[in-house]
Amino acid sequence: MCGIVGYIGNRNAYPIIIKGLQRLEYRGYDSAGVALYDDGNINVSRTPGKVDDLRAIAASEMTLDGTLGIGHTRWATHGEPNKRNAHPHLSNSGDLVIIHNGIIENYESIKKELIQRGYVFHSDTDTEVLVNLIEEVKKKENVKLGKAVQIALNQVIGAYAIAVFDRTKPDEIVVAKLGSPLAIGIGEDEFFIASDASPFIEYTNNAVYLEDEEMAIIRRGKEIKLRKIKDDRVAYPMVQELQLNLEAIEKNGFEHFMLKEIYEQPHAIRDTFRGRLRADQGLVKMAGVDQHLERFRNANRIIIVACGTSWHAGLVAEYIFEDLARIPVEVEYASEFRYRNPVITDKDVVIAISQSGETADTLAAIKLAKSHGAFVFGVCNVVGSSIARETDAGAYTHAGPEIGVASTKAFTTQITVLTLLALKLAKEAGTISESHFRNMLTEIEAIPGKVERVLESNPEVEHIARAYKDSTNCLYLGRGYNFPVALEGALKLKEISYIHAEGYPAAEMKHGPIALIDEHMPVFVIATRKGHYEKVVSNIQEIKSRKGKIIAVVTEGDEQVRELADHVVEIPETSECLSPLLTTIPLQLLSYHIAVMRGCNVDQPRNLAKSVTVE
Ligand code: M6R
Repeated sequence: MCGIVGYIGNRNAYPIIIKGLQRLEYRGYDSAGVALYDDGNINVSRTPGKVDDLRAIAASEMTLDGTLGIGHTRWATHGEPNKRNAHPHLSNSGDLVIIHNGIIENYESIKKELIQRGYVFHSDTDTEVLVNLIEEVKKKENVKLGKAVQIALNQVIGAYAIAVFDRTKPDEIVVAKLGSPLAIGIGEDEFFIASDASPFIEYTNNAVYLEDEEMAIIRRGKEIKLRKIKDDRVAYPMVQELQLNLEAIEKNGFEHFMLKEIYEQPHAIRDTFRGRLRADQGLVKMAGVDQHLERFRNANRIIIVACGTSWHAGLVAEYIFEDLARIPVEVEYASEFRYRNPVITDKDVVIAISQSGETADTLAAIKLAKSHGAFVFGVCNVVGSSIARETDAGAYTHAGPEIGVASTKAFTTQITVLTLLALKLAKEAGTISESHFRNMLTEIEAIPGKVERVLESNPEVEHIARAYKDSTNCLYLGRGYNFPVALEGALKLKEISYIHAEGYPAAEMKHGPIALIDEHMPVFVIATRKGHYEKVVSNIQEIKSRKGKIIAVVTEGDEQVRELADHVVEIPETSECLSPLLTTIPLQLLSYHIAVMRGCNVDQPRNLAKSVTVE
């Protein structure tokens, strides 16, 4: 859950590293650091805080010259996010320097042994232990850096993406990966190293993604050499052409990535169903499903595993799968599933949902399901991510890079893919009529245009946000398909504005949360015409009679709720099961505006990181 960047070539490494770290700040932003090789020295600058803080102090702390360097932006696991724990870390001799994303689980026992051999530690991190272990192996075995890294990594338990170089061999960087992502950009006589390709996209379109348990020795101006960490076998680099463009990873005039990503949803949803949906021919084509139709056909049940927003998309999918395809579905937090000894059989289909494709708990849940013979289907956004590679088959959401920590377009594109899958399985199983099926396809095609219309309500939503920005608690209510949207609305508000919020099925309110309602409690209610409308109206009346403030998301033209509510935001009419794609938009905008008005860091909320690669 950190970002790593490295460079070796002919250019000045510092600006490449700093800009790269800024693009990776979505991965962590507790502290940052850089190490540059220059004229026989390794110069290091580190600081708590963001990459901007590093930029502000680096020039006063060291020379910024050098064509070899590494940098790191951290989300703290071991040790406080202070200067001494910030990466890069030097070995005791000062010759080796390392950056690390991941966790070395057995670092304490290794540290004890190293201390007995005279090593001194200046931080609380597992990473400093690793660099000294490499140094110890290098000295003891009298081997080169690459070999020392390999031997050391065979002694550690945990996850890592590392880059390390040696002051006495400044034409080489060694990198290795297990569990955390690592991409190598291949330029002309130069190489870039990063947690994803965004730091080097303006320099090269060619990249190699290391597989788990692979390491690479990267020499200035030479070819990269890949090896398997376990048995030293040579591996062959598969150079991939990057699809990423610079525009997709910049703000393009928006004040925050989150707002940009909210506004990208019409486009992202269209990209996600493009090529998969043929409303005119009544067809849904999904290669990852078509090739494994038998597994889906024979499935006793579907188990969905995910975390956070992706778990909410899974809940929406549960309703759709059961409603349309009549397949029993269970939705599990990956973090619970992996540890609770669940019953899994080879007749189960497990669907793992993850924007980043790197979430540690989801990855572990997949491994567990596979070990019981289940067929695992992935729904990921990041191409080539660990989850995409670990699953038996899958379908990408084509949302484009999501950089704001709060998931927005990932949620709506996940629902889009899962709806297509449900429709496909329903058609296969004959549980949906041809006319219903075709209507649904036509309706999906209309969704991007309808999302655009919802986005037009942004000024109104901003006005509502102003009225509730100082609230300390909020309730979100929805029923049926929109119950998960209530959960998602509450999560968005919590994570970026630090206001306590709870999502509930509207009918559950009277079993407890109603006690909280008074004139200070804003209640956001999703009250679309097709979703148990009358029941939700009754819930609204119950809130009103207890003086709660009601902010309702309603279908265009609704008069009944407008009369009862303090504020309404309208969405266009759509089928009930597609309504989450529209109802979630005003809630995203609302959280965004409230967070901005409260002066919160919208794209980088405190204590969070975009991909949670630790347990
Ligand atoms: O990358 P993933 O979809 O696996 O991430 C799962 C959660 O960490 C993520 O959705 C998180 O809850 C977001 N910050 C929510 O906005």
